[in-house]
Amino acid sequence: MVDFTAIREQFPILDQEIHGHPLVYLDSAATAQKPQVVIDAESRFYERDNAGVHRGAHELAARSTMAFEHARAKVARLVGAQAEEGQEEIVVTAGATASLNLLATAFGNASQGRGGQAARRFALGPGDEVVVSQAEHHSVLLPFQELCQRTGASLKWFGLDEQGRIRSDTAEQVIGERTKVVAITHVSNVTGAITDLAPIVERAHQVGALVVLDACQSVPHLPIDLHALDVDFAAWSAHKMYGPTGVGFLYGRRELLEALPPASFGGSMVELAFLDKPAQYMAPPARFEAGTQPVAQVIAAGEAADWMRDLGMERVAEHERAITAELLNLNEVEGVRILGPVSPEDRIGTVAFDVAGIHPHDVGQYVDSRGIAIRTGHHCAQPVHRHFGLFASNRASVGVYNSIADADELLDAVRGVRGFFGA
Ligand code: ALA
Repeated sequence: MVDFTAIREQFPILDQEIHGHPLVYLDSAATAQKPQVVIDAESRFYERDNAGVHRGAHELAARSTMAFEHARAKVARLVGAQAEEGQEEIVVTAGATASLNLLATAFGNASQGRGGQAARRFALGPGDEVVVSQAEHHSVLLPFQELCQRTGASLKWFGLDEQGRIRSDTAEQVIGERTKVVAITHVSNVTGAITDLAPIVERAHQVGALVVLDACQSVPHLPIDLHALDVDFAAWSAHKMYGPTGVGFLYGRRELLEALPPASFGGSMVELAFLDKPAQYMAPPARFEAGTQPVAQVIAAGEAADWMRDLGMERVAEHERAITAELLNLNEVEGVRILGPVSPEDRIGTVAFDVAGIHPHDVGQYVDSRGIAIRTGHHCAQPVHRHFGLFASNRASVGVYNSIADADELLDAVRGVRGFFGA
């Protein structure tokens, strides 16, 4: 049985005081802190095995290549993807934003005829539709909006209900016969709401559309099986799942990755290169991994994936649900409004809130003076804020190392904010 009260000790950064108070870190939706095993995995690689992967015949190159591929397999196991050699479904990228841009660029390339007949399924043109939702953060919205502008396709979106949940009950109306791609968040980085995916995926597949899942805020907090969710692609970053920055992942169903044309070009993604005729590209995942890879970071991300599996994602979700329930008491504080569902069902512990009459930056600085780290601003998700009639908010977000006492510290601080600023 995991002792969640002892987990905090595995995170060296949390053992410090901020402005004279023990650090309460409630900003894991922006980036999670790293356990010692992840920090060690990265430095150990540099101390013993550092070399480029998939190149060189020396011992260090062999070791680093093996460790890199093992890390890919560990990440695949965390999300229920295929890991066997030749059947890999995980592509390494520079982050979730890079994963989504890779995909949108590859769809754009397919729309210009790249990738031949096999890639026609990704092609878009005037009259076609791409569907997103009003809950998307900019890393989903903008690459696919740009794709529409490049191809002449139209952008449509799911609206939100009064609690900020994606209106999946409108899937029949929003997703039509001309929809080619549905790019949708699994969990909103503002409302914390878990999307009711099944009706959306079912409708998308009924009309032959591809489903791209933004899994940035779900992979760190929930048990995920991408095959069971039946999505076609998914993107997330390592740094939110207790791994390093600079690394992300793109999942694609194997047969789709095999048909997808590349989006960036260079070393280690090409089988044969010529001056007088086009190159022949490698099979996935290498086809999408041009250039030198962030090997140390990928290996540390693999360590993070194993560490999470050892904790047990069901247990992580249960632990965080209890803290979420406590945080949701923010809604009872005078002048505070939660942007999102106010009960802990079907949501995670990412809780955005508004304090009437007080600018989020003031709230953020006030709670920081008590050692509490939260995010303030629009959280790279302006359309969802517009839904609530706001431009910015405050956001507390939970990680495995948090406790109910952390939520209580924040509640206590927020209770003092309006009085402090004389609101
Ligand atoms: N990383 C961004 C966040 O903090 C999107 O939610």
